[in-house]
Amino acid sequence: MFKSIILAAGKGTRMKSDLPKVLHSIFDKPFLGYVIDAVNKTSVVDENFIIVGHQAEQVEEFVNNNYTNSKCILQTPQLGTGHAVSMVLPYLKDYNGEIIILCGDTPLITSDTLSAFIKFHKEKASDITVMSAIFDNPANYGRIIRNQDGSVNSIVEEKDANESQKTVKEINAGIYCVNWNKVKSAFSELSNNNAQGEYYLTDIIKWGNEKHLAVNAYTIQNNEDIFGINSRENLAEASRILNQRTLHKHMKNGVTIVDPSTTWISPETEIDTDTIIYPSCYINGKNKIGRHCKIGPFAHLRGNVVLEDYVKIGNFVEVKKTTIKSHTNACHLTYLGDSEIGANVNIGAGTITANYNPLTKVKSKTIIKDNVKIGSNSVLVAPVTIEEGANVGAIGVITKNIPAWALAITRAPLKILENWVQKK
Ligand code: UD1
Ligand code: CA
Repeated sequence: MFKSIILAAGKGTRMKSDLPKVLHSIFDKPFLGYVIDAVNKTSVVDENFIIVGHQAEQVEEFVNNNYTNSKCILQTPQLGTGHAVSMVLPYLKDYNGEIIILCGDTPLITSDTLSAFIKFHKEKASDITVMSAIFDNPANYGRIIRNQDGSVNSIVEEKDANESQKTVKEINAGIYCVNWNKVKSAFSELSNNNAQGEYYLTDIIKWGNEKHLAVNAYTIQNNEDIFGINSRENLAEASRILNQRTLHKHMKNGVTIVDPSTTWISPETEIDTDTIIYPSCYINGKNKIGRHCKIGPFAHLRGNVVLEDYVKIGNFVEVKKTTIKSHTNACHLTYLGDSEIGANVNIGAGTITANYNPLTKVKSKTIIKDNVKIGSNSVLVAPVTIEEGANVGAIGVITKNIPAWALAITRAPLKILENWVQKK
């Protein structure tokens, strides 16, 4: 099995944030989570070393809470990407296999691209493989310098490049695969004699050539995969790209997305065929949506939502941590949270599950069985169960369980005072 090193010690100054850069999120999942997930999904890596520095405790907490196969290693001070990788040396003294090195701020990297990269590395029997891409605007990236015969000579950082090197459009994507046994001694030989006074990881290319190792570059076709995030603008662009990928996947699979430009669906949402997503929906977190459902316009699913087939979630309906069985409708202005809802249920406009007690901070469940009808503007005060077939009259404030097939009414009876206006 391979190991990976993920560089995440940098500050991310341009984010202008209290958070470390790699903990900024897309659909509430930090960038670093996307990178670790992509690496794990290749199924060839059994252990990840995350190099942390700036706000290390926060990054470490995220990693330890979410990944059992990942270990954080502190790099203080941060003396460059080469120095960052050298932090693992004490942990991998006897390791002989391959190591993938990548950065924690490129959340769009996919396991498919990593797998193709690894395959290339193996097929070439390469000792050092670097991922490259062709950019129309290569500014700020390290440039891949090739020899006349096309072989890779070295990587030159923008700040160290001469005018002719700056015209090179092939850039270093910052992802590498190395044979650890052959490369580990490089890290005691790197120098910081360059424009930034840093120990550059990129110098292992030149070093490898001097040691007559097999050095190769793998040029990717889809430049979006290596999109690195340095600013809030980059974050918005990466979010858009990730979202568009997800929408196209669903459309290919038989889901109608009426307006891809205003629809947001998290990568962890599954949607079955013939479901229609109307404009301006925000679907976040992990959800499972069945066949022939209609969602929106203007619906908000907040995660852990499971909808069976033929469910309708209409405008200004918010749903969280709720399962809904087939042919149930919640069409207008409703909040459903921490609920289990049966089949053939009609939830009237303006229904609220009052799931949260702000005094005790306890969240409770609402259970609504099959064939229940909830009248408009009702509040279901959890914990509460509405048994099968029961009806709740409009403006019901339901604080007790309602038995099957009963009618529950809590509103004051309608009074009509004849000619009241004239008398006044
Ligand atoms: C680096 C590459 C450049 C490449 C680019 C791709 C070097 C010298 N240059 O440049 O060729 O085109 O990535 O994005 O490697 N980090 C640490 N510890 C450190 C320094 C950096 O963990 O001491 C981490 C950063 O948090 C970041 C990553 O390494 O995640 C890259 O560092 P950064 O300074 O952003 O490198 P670039 O200048 O972008
Ligand atoms: Ca830098």
